[in-house]
Amino acid sequence: MKNILITGGAGYIGSHTAVELVKAGFEPIILDNFSNSEKSVLDGLKQILGRELICYDEDCNDRGAVAKIFEKHQLSGVIHFAAYKAVGESTQVPLNYYRNNVDSLLVILDCMAKYGVKDLVFSSSCTVYGQPDTLPVTENTPRKEAESPYGNTKKICEDILRDYVKSGADTRIISLRYFNPVGAHPTSAIGELPLGTPNNLVPFITQTAAGIREKLTVFGDDYDTADGSCVRDYIHVVDLADAHVKSLAFLAQKAGNLYDIFNVGTGKGNTVLEVINTFEQVAGKKLNYTIGKRRPGDVEKVWADTGKITEVLGWQPQFTLEDSLRDSWNWQLKLVEKG
Ligand code: WQD
Repeated sequence: MKNILITGGAGYIGSHTAVELVKAGFEPIILDNFSNSEKSVLDGLKQILGRELICYDEDCNDRGAVAKIFEKHQLSGVIHFAAYKAVGESTQVPLNYYRNNVDSLLVILDCMAKYGVKDLVFSSSCTVYGQPDTLPVTENTPRKEAESPYGNTKKICEDILRDYVKSGADTRIISLRYFNPVGAHPTSAIGELPLGTPNNLVPFITQTAAGIREKLTVFGDDYDTADGSCVRDYIHVVDLADAHVKSLAFLAQKAGNLYDIFNVGTGKGNTVLEVINTFEQVAGKKLNYTIGKRRPGDVEKVWADTGKITEVLGWQPQFTLEDSLRDSWNWQLKLVEKG
């Protein structure tokens, strides 16, 4: 069985990737310190998979604990999701972000070298592009000055991986630059679990529609876009999970060492107001929202050119924005039902 260590595997993208890995014949081994996820995710995974997955409640920065997992399990590869990812929070506690996000990658790379594990998929982000000069963004679009310490940790980690492979390390690595992950598993057994007040658009929409939040504020409608609100590339989390599976399958048939980067989006941009309108159609209810001021640090418009991942990895998005919003809404209703 091809054991794959998923750091942050109880998180939003990690848990959905665990499901797709099992479907593809891999055996995921979860490592998560549950600082930004809940043990209930493991129950959701059991509901979908019909069995429990191995999970270590450990911190990626705990070198000894991570080494024990590599010692115990013959790993075929690693997917490294574990990181702090709140853009706003990263501006308040930058050292926590640099320590956690960068050190944890170094621990993983050291353990991979020590135990002869060659394949790594790294969770990066479109945030490295900042506000691109040309759209859609390709992997050759120059990275901009990071808008936040969070974004900078992603750029630094990409540079670490690039330099490490360039040094001749016997390893094969792919960085996936996520656009905006949204949606939930179609079974509603797992989904996004924002702790506290959601920063991201879609969970804020679904919590407003569920009456948990009083209203949504649209952060600006005076941008140079079709309706004045910002444009993003919203990708279903199951499509994003599948990109990780295809990345591992690609690396496993490669020899030597390599480092490559792929955008993972739908290739289509939608404005905030389009997302709201689509949600209202999908949920069959009006959303209570107002137009407010711009949010500092927001990029006006960004969406992906996905030609490279389609050509090299044979990956294509299967879900639409409607699918994503329907699955997010069904998941929110399930959370309300569970109380
Ligand atoms: C999307 C759009 C907001 C909330 C962030 C990270 C990025 C990645 C994805 C990790 C923007 C608008 C939002 C609200 C709003 N995360 N909005 N009202 O900022 O594009 O990206 O999450 O990799 O790194 O930066 O996502 O969902 O916060 O915002 O109008 O209450 O929705 O202005 O235009 P963002 P988001």
